[in-house]
Amino acid sequence: EYHHDIHHKEYVDNGNNLLKGTGWENKTLEEIILGTYDAKSIAQNGIFNNISQLWNHNQFWEMMGTSGKNIPSHVESRIKDSFGSVEKFKEESCAAGDGQFGSGWCWLVLDTDGCLKITNADNGVNPLCFNQVALLGCDVLEHSYYFDFRNKRPVYLANFLEKLVNWENVAERLGSK
Ligand code: FE2
Repeated sequence: EYHHDIHHKEYVDNGNNLLKGTGWENKTLEEIILGTYDAKSIAQNGIFNNISQLWNHNQFWEMMGTSGKNIPSHVESRIKDSFGSVEKFKEESCAAGDGQFGSGWCWLVLDTDGCLKITNADNGVNPLCFNQVALLGCDVLEHSYYFDFRNKRPVYLANFLEKLVNWENVAERLGSK
């Protein structure tokens, strides 16, 4: 609730304020993200940062659920093909999230070459920026784990991957791709 009602809401409020009078007001979140992403000026890019974080958090809540270890078989086989095993996938995802210096996200994406990949990115930068499909994402901003896990980001990541993934949602995102 704290993460959703305080931190996510901040991106919504900031984004709405920053968009006023820019011509982006009636565009979709995806259009704004793609239209304002510029890797070189990201630190000064308030619209991109707030709208992309808004979008990222929208995905994050959908990606959370109670399906636990029940991974749909076609998702599981794609994960095994790409990473060797589900356990290896979890290890690599934890390493990507833990290795993200400062704020950001780690992602499981469907890349443009049709392969599943694990990525991590600074702040609000997300798979849309690289024409990838976001299958699963985990917020590694400190605000997402400090209350429950203090500074233990790897424990938070392992807990998320073990207990909080909505694998049905991952399956929907992957579809028959
Ligand atoms: Fe967050």
